[in-house]
Amino acid sequence: INVKQVHRTGYHFQPTKHWINDPNGPMYYNGIYHLFYQYNPKGAVWGNIVWAHSVSKDLINWKKLDPAIYPSKPFDQFGCWSGSATILPGNKPVILYTGIIDKNNTQVQNYAIPADLSDPYLTKWIKPDNNPLIVADISVNKTAFRDPTTAWWSGDDGHWRISIGGRRRERGMSFLYRSRDFVHWIKAKHPLHSKGGTGNWECPDFFPVSVSGKNGLDTSFVGSGIKYVLKVSLDVTRYEYYTLGTYSNEKDRYVPDEGMIDGWNGLRYDYGNFYASKSFFDPSKNRRILWGWANESDSTNDDVKKGWAGIQLIPRTILLDPNGKQLLQWPIEEVETLRGKKVELSNRKLVKGEKVEIKGITAAQADVDVVFSFDSLDKAEPFDSNWDRYDAQKLCSQKGSTVEGGLGPFGILTLASENLEEYTPVFFRVFKAKDEHLVLMCSDATRSTLKEGNGAYRPSFAGFVDVDLTEKKLSLRSLIDNSVVESFGAGGKTCITSRVYPTLAIYGNAHLYAFNNGTQTIKIDSLNAWSMNKPLKMNQ
Ligand code: FRU
Repeated sequence: INVKQVHRTGYHFQPTKHWINDPNGPMYYNGIYHLFYQYNPKGAVWGNIVWAHSVSKDLINWKKLDPAIYPSKPFDQFGCWSGSATILPGNKPVILYTGIIDKNNTQVQNYAIPADLSDPYLTKWIKPDNNPLIVADISVNKTAFRDPTTAWWSGDDGHWRISIGGRRRERGMSFLYRSRDFVHWIKAKHPLHSKGGTGNWECPDFFPVSVSGKNGLDTSFVGSGIKYVLKVSLDVTRYEYYTLGTYSNEKDRYVPDEGMIDGWNGLRYDYGNFYASKSFFDPSKNRRILWGWANESDSTNDDVKKGWAGIQLIPRTILLDPNGKQLLQWPIEEVETLRGKKVELSNRKLVKGEKVEIKGITAAQADVDVVFSFDSLDKAEPFDSNWDRYDAQKLCSQKGSTVEGGLGPFGILTLASENLEEYTPVFFRVFKAKDEHLVLMCSDATRSTLKEGNGAYRPSFAGFVDVDLTEKKLSLRSLIDNSVVESFGAGGKTCITSRVYPTLAIYGNAHLYAFNNGTQTIKIDSLNAWSMNKPLKMNQ
């Protein structure tokens, strides 16, 4: 075993070395999935950014190709930053991306097209000479003007539309541009949306979701029974939030639904290490798939030593929650093809202070799906009205997995060493507020490693779960993969990703437990856990 590589993932998307960030232009074209991503071909820190390119038939096995887009022209010579793909009528893909044109980080929007549509992998891309397509006008801050979305064609007014992230002073903004021919773009008078005090918006994503259907929708879908999602990545806090709302191309404004929190306290795709995500419509399975990037939580020094930094998370299907108030995310079904040996447990009680080991699988690389139940909500701790309802992370840092509670904390201990010198607990704790129950979900990296690190980040990531407790059940699924734990609470209502770097709980020395540290007895209704195999091909 190469000591440097103990924290490489087994089944997450990674190139063999160097730095990666945002997923770019994901698309499905003629039977092939394409993933491009921000990549530094020269090292494990951010810089020299190109669009690396990999292709797959199943979103699990990946073949690495040469970078598709890299600095070569005056309109992108200082960097090829994030962007999106759109498939134009006639089945013609086009990529829009941000080019950096000078040392001051001036940003313009460019396009690229495949050199040969009959090449199944679309290996080579051309950047036509009529680039850049869009430069910042006088009213736009040209160093905060980037990450064009997939274009949408909304109805019959003959225009394509895209949005581009940015800001006006501290007001985060998603600019709107229109075009008839995809070449000449005109800025709309009003942005698609903006919100004061949120700072620069990166990587906006804008798409429709079906109100009642189980299918995802094409970005250009027009019809009834839909809502829109606007997601933005907040440069300042390094997390993403989204709102649900309505959009009509007549007014060309997006209006968040009544009750949506638009800003710092809004809904997040993920309450952990998940950033610069992008979604796309997969027509082969009629679903919308979300890709997110997780950077390292270790120090830059560690990144350089191990020679790589960043992973792409497991793609997730996204649907509207039947309650219409939030999204649901779930790992794509293809990930289940990697499941190997399985162990099961059912009807197992956990009294206060009890933990049970889930033995017989590779706990460092596993998929765990568990349903907990309890007889009563009576023991839920009171929710102190002085606590910040929107600072779940703070609450989790104060009430960790070992702090005794009433109903909870209960959950699983992932990447645990035998004597619990190291572990990353993923758990619930139920509170009783004035006239509702609040369910806190935590993925706490505080005790994840014995390693000390300057600049290392070991947060108690957490979010609330808006779940109906009448059946007195809570479910949890976690994808564990050596240095990453991706967890999905209550069927994907609340998702949390942690990056962790155990020193003892590695390979065969990693353990998995279920635990309860609340006075209320908990039952494991069912627990299924699988060893996860490596894909046969990962970017060779
Ligand atoms: C988000 C981001 C984008 C930009 C890219 C540069 O992580 O900062 O706004 O286009 O990364 O690599």
